[in-house]
Amino acid sequence: MLQAAAKTLSVVTTTSVSRGILLSIRHYCKKTPAKLRVSEAVSGAELGANVKVQGWVRSVRAQKSHLFLHVNDGSSLQSLQVVASSELNDPLLTFGSAVEVTGTLKKSPNQKQPVELEAEQIHIVGECNPLEFPFKIKERHGLEYIRQFPHLRCRTNAFSSLLRIRSEATTAVHSYFKENGFLQIHTPVITSNDCEGAGELFKIEPSGPDYEEEEHFFSVPAFLTVSGQLHLELMSGAFSKVYTFGPTFRAENSQSRRHLAEFYMVEAEVSFAQSLEDLTKVMEGMFRSATEHVLAHCAEDLDLFHKHVTPGHREIVEAMLKNRFPTITYSEAIDILNRSSENFAFPTDWGCDLQTEHEKYLVKHCGNIPVFVTDYPYDLKPFYARDNQDHPEHTAAAVDLLVPGVGELCGGSLREERLDLLRARLQQAGLEDTYSWYLDLRRFGSVPHGGFGMGFERYLQCILGVDNIKDVIPFPRFSHSCVL
Ligand code: 4AD
Repeated sequence: MLQAAAKTLSVVTTTSVSRGILLSIRHYCKKTPAKLRVSEAVSGAELGANVKVQGWVRSVRAQKSHLFLHVNDGSSLQSLQVVASSELNDPLLTFGSAVEVTGTLKKSPNQKQPVELEAEQIHIVGECNPLEFPFKIKERHGLEYIRQFPHLRCRTNAFSSLLRIRSEATTAVHSYFKENGFLQIHTPVITSNDCEGAGELFKIEPSGPDYEEEEHFFSVPAFLTVSGQLHLELMSGAFSKVYTFGPTFRAENSQSRRHLAEFYMVEAEVSFAQSLEDLTKVMEGMFRSATEHVLAHCAEDLDLFHKHVTPGHREIVEAMLKNRFPTITYSEAIDILNRSSENFAFPTDWGCDLQTEHEKYLVKHCGNIPVFVTDYPYDLKPFYARDNQDHPEHTAAAVDLLVPGVGELCGGSLREERLDLLRARLQQAGLEDTYSWYLDLRRFGSVPHGGFGMGFERYLQCILGVDNIKDVIPFPRFSHSCVL
C-alpha cells in the first residue's frame, strides 16, 4: 500500500512537502530509492532519505577501510561526497567515469560539506580511462587548454559554471523584456536581406543531386541573418515594443577575441522613441537587470570565475553597477582620443570608425565603467540610421555602448522614419527596389522609432572578465573552424 501511495505521489506536482513525504515513504519501503540531482542532495533537505544519485566521478580517494568519491551531475558546481566501504572499490571507478550510487544521505562530519551519501551500492555506468581522458584529477586546466576539447570541456568545473551562468543570463534577459512590456518575436534565420549592408553574409543553397546550381531555392538569393532588426522594425509598427534573441551569422574575420561567425544577439525595437535616451535607458536597464540577476542566482559559479579564472573581476562588475552609465558624443570621443598621449595603431581623425583600441581607451578614460557614445558620422552608418541633419559635422542618431575589457557591446540607432529622406538614401545606394517593402513601413503609419542589438557572448565576456569570446559559447564557430 505504501508503494502505491508513493507511486501516486510521484505523479503529483513535487512541492517540497510532497517530495519530503515521497522520500520518507520510499525510505521506509527501501526498495525504490528516490532519484535526486546532486544540487538537491547537497542542499541537505533530504537527510536520512534513501536515494539514488547519477553523475560523473570528479575525485576518488581510497583509504584502508573507506572509499571517498565526489560525484557531479552538472546541476551545481558542488559535487556530492560519497562514502563507501572499501569493499565497494573497483579499479574502474576512476576520474571521469559515470556512476549510479544508491545509499542514505547523512550529515557529514566534514565542515566543507553538510551532507554525504553513505553508499550501499555503486554501479559503474560508463568507464573512463584516466590516462587517455584529457583532463586530470585535481588539476585546474586553463580555458585555452580546455578549448582544445570542445566535445569534452563541459566536464570541467570552469566550463560547466560558464554554461550555467549563460543559461541563467538568458533567462534574465527574457525576464527583463517581459517585465518591461516587450513582445518576443522569432525573427527568421534565413532571409534575403543584408540588414547591415556590410556584405558579411553566408549564402544558403540546397545541396544534393536534384538541385540545379543556377536556380535559387527561394527564387531569390538567400542568406543566414546578420541581424533581426528589419523584421523587428516591421513588428514594432504593430506592437510598439518588441525584441528577439537568437543566433546571428557574420562571414567576417572571426580569428579575433571578440568576433564569431555564429553568435547570439539580443535585439530590441521601440516605437515612438523620441531620442537616443529612449534607447539608452533600455540598454542600461537590460544590462543592470541581467547582471544583478546573475549575481543573485549564480553566486557559486561566479565565485569560481572571479576567484580562479579571472581574479579581481568581481570589483570591476560591482563598479559597473554602482554608477549611471555616462554618455559622450562621437565628436567628444575623438577629442579625448586626440588629447591622449597613447600611440594608437589606427587613425583618430573625425570620420574614422572607432577601433577596439579606441573603445577600450574611452572606457578607461570614463572610469572603467560602461559608456555610451552617440551621434556617429552619417557616412559610417547603414542606410536605416536617422539623419541628424546637422552641419558642418553631418551625423546620424546612432549609439554604441562600450564596456570594460570588450569595447563595443551594443550598437543601435534611431531609424530614419521620414519617407523622403529614406527613399533618397536607398536610391543613392541603388537599393530602392530591394527595400520597397521597407519604404512601405514609412508610407503606412510611420512613427519615430529606434532599437539596438547586444552581442550576448560579449556581454558574458564583460561580466566574467573572459578574454576570448570562444570561451563563452558552447560551440564556437569561427573562420577555419567548425569541428563539431
Ligand atoms: O553593431 P551591430 O552590427 O548592430 C546590428 O546588427 C544592428 N542591426 C542591431 C540593431 O540595431 N538591432 O551588432 C550588434 C552587436 C555588436 O555591438 C556586438 O556586440 C555584436 O552584436 N556583434 C558580434 N558579436 C560576436 N561576433 C561578431 N562577429 C559580432 N558582430 C557583432
